Amino acid sequence: MVHVNVFDTTLRDGEQSPGVNLNQLEKIEIARQLERFGVDIMEAGFPASSQGDFESVRAIARTIKNASVTGLARATKADIDVSWDALKEAEEPRLHLFLATSPIHMKYKLNKTPEEVMNLAVEMVSYARKKFPQLEWSAEDASRSDLDFLVKIIEKVIDAGATVINLPDTVGYATPEEYGSIFKYVKENVPNIDKVILSAHCHDDLGMAVANSLAAIQNGATQIEGTINGIGERAGNASLEEIAVALNIRKDNYPYTTNLVLNEIKRTSDLVSRFTGMAIAPNKAIIGKNAFAHESGIHQDGVLKHASTYEIITPELVGVKSNSLVLGKHSGRHAFKDKIEQMGFQLSAEKLMEAFVTFKQLTDRKKEVTDEDLFAILTDVQTEVMDVKKYELVAFQVQYGSANLPTATVALTTPEGIRVETARTGQGSVEALCNTLEALVKEEIHLTDFQLNSIGQGRDALAEAHVKMTVNGTPVRGRASAQDVLEASAKAFLNAVNRVFFNQKIAAQETALT
Ligand code: KIV
Ligand code: ZN
Repeated sequence: MVHVNVFDTTLRDGEQSPGVNLNQLEKIEIARQLERFGVDIMEAGFPASSQGDFESVRAIARTIKNASVTGLARATKADIDVSWDALKEAEEPRLHLFLATSPIHMKYKLNKTPEEVMNLAVEMVSYARKKFPQLEWSAEDASRSDLDFLVKIIEKVIDAGATVINLPDTVGYATPEEYGSIFKYVKENVPNIDKVILSAHCHDDLGMAVANSLAAIQNGATQIEGTINGIGERAGNASLEEIAVALNIRKDNYPYTTNLVLNEIKRTSDLVSRFTGMAIAPNKAIIGKNAFAHESGIHQDGVLKHASTYEIITPELVGVKSNSLVLGKHSGRHAFKDKIEQMGFQLSAEKLMEAFVTFKQLTDRKKEVTDEDLFAILTDVQTEVMDVKKYELVAFQVQYGSANLPTATVALTTPEGIRVETARTGQGSVEALCNTLEALVKEEIHLTDFQLNSIGQGRDALAEAHVKMTVNGTPVRGRASAQDVLEASAKAFLNAVNRVFFNQKIAAQETALT
């Protein structure tokens, strides 16, 4: 069995998905979960791209102990220096340096000759290697590059000190045969290739990212890159959970091992989906709601007779639990604390108390509180910024009748602690509620998207609302869960507005730490 390293880029390439905008606490929670999932390397961001990214990468580098933390950098000394500042406190700092090598990119994007690109790559790798013990060099758009040029530049950057060579299919153009053959060619023609790890990084524009990654492994790649739920630029990146389960279920065909803990897949996927607001299609392989559902009579009959007739993956393998009823009305603080520790959450005393109060309020309305409900409560509390002056919902009422104009009345406290209330109408209940909230907050709001999902199943499932808006021109997302859809909607609206204050507080804390 050959060991394959897993490089997760959910927080960098994944965060480049349109409309995704994670705050620092959410990124840290995702990073912790990726550590639990067992990734070897996590790309925490692009430190030189913004102050916020720099701070998140630095916070993750300080937090994560069991994975190498990396950040993306362009081929400039300034990017490399900023990245070092963000990553130097990591257990194993690593830089991910990239430069395009395809004729299209070199000519139209970089405006450089192949020779200039080669010299720049070598110069920047040597410079970065003086700081970083691990250095991955990516030949951006490798799959559309001239193979002989690729061979020459790879040899030179290895001599300059690169420890990993990544050959991305940047625009998701390659077929599995083509992509595999690039790895084979590079392995056979770069004389010093045995000094480095070869890595595959695939995009899903033609729906072949996972197949391409597997083809690369079969042709010598010993590292694969991807994201949770396959999120990322355009059609996204290779789904790590799909690669992981394919390697496991078809080990007869793929004699490769990874350090991934497969039964953490469901939780990792749920967390990323909630924080990014990117819902998972029900038919998505491995993690979709229907991935283990058998609808047709013939299939149900077969599965009842013998599960293996139609089930190649068990839900338990990926951490989907069939019986997830956990706590109820009579569960006390002790049982609650035990349960959340079992679930792997570490909350401060203040946050533990807050989570317990929310849990108790929920048990007044919902008889059975499931793992999924608890997970929603805990992740919301875990990523809440404490002690911030913000808008808080005091009460609301919505009047709806098929013959009347929907009307909402809302009372709030403002960040200054003043109680305000008003009423507005809308074409529907949610619009009336949003119009009323918008009238009450002083910030300038432009709502761009609104989504409602249920958490778990059944008539009394929790509602989860996701909103996207600009607040005073800054794009933000908000999310909240509640037993009632309108309450979840109102809270998600305010959560988005309050993020402006949360982000100010996080930035102030970071400045105080430096
Ligand atoms: O897809 C790509 O080429 C990238 C590089 C920055 C590695 O994400
Ligand atoms: Zn990419």
